[in-house]
Amino acid sequence: MTDTTLTSIKACVFDAYGTLFDVHAPVGRLAGRLGEKAGPLSDMWRLKQLQYTWLRSLMGAHADFWQVTGEALDFAMAAHGVADAALRDELMALYRRLDAYEDAAPALEALKARGLKTAILSNGNPDMLQAAVTSAGLGNLLDATYSIEDVGIYKPDPKVYAMASEGLGVMPREICFVSANGWDAAGAAFFGFQVTWLNRFAQPPENLPGAPAAVITGLGELPGLIGAT
Ligand code: LAC
Repeated sequence: MTDTTLTSIKACVFDAYGTLFDVHAPVGRLAGRLGEKAGPLSDMWRLKQLQYTWLRSLMGAHADFWQVTGEALDFAMAAHGVADAALRDELMALYRRLDAYEDAAPALEALKARGLKTAILSNGNPDMLQAAVTSAGLGNLLDATYSIEDVGIYKPDPKVYAMASEGLGVMPREICFVSANGWDAAGAAFFGFQVTWLNRFAQPPENLPGAPAAVITGLGELPGLIGAT
């Protein structure tokens, strides 16, 4: 628990994957078929997925997050010697309807009850985000969902963070941006948001420009961080 208070906040904007949605749920569901490879394969899938976003952005070779997610899974399966086309299809299907973390809906409800706007700002393409939000039942708790597809470059390009500020009509410093990805938290803070780093995975702080204003370990702590608006 932190005793930080964020002031003048008008909107809370959330990263999607890893923050609201559990990216390890698909492999978790099918772990019995992967044995001891399950955990390392899921970790590599996620890491490669993110690396491909950064690399494609640097290369000027954008492809949407669904394609990148599939290509990252192919790499992770190959690296672990798993050749199973049916399993690949099932994992991708599960990625479209990820479980929301249990603390996601109550936190969004509490923020909306306080009169704050809520939104997602994610690397996901609009179709994947819509599917995940709907299957997790979060649709009526969000005012907007912003996809990087509208700017054609991935986080942490500043154009991505600007989209949420412009879309909501709220100044960057009036936005509390919440991400479980330390590098995303850094990028958003560097842009000018008041950032809360959701350190779900007990990671050390990133050594990057942009420091989070607050650090929490679960979304239940978030509403209490936000002072009078
Ligand atoms: C997202 C990735 C970074 O949802 O998790 O944007």
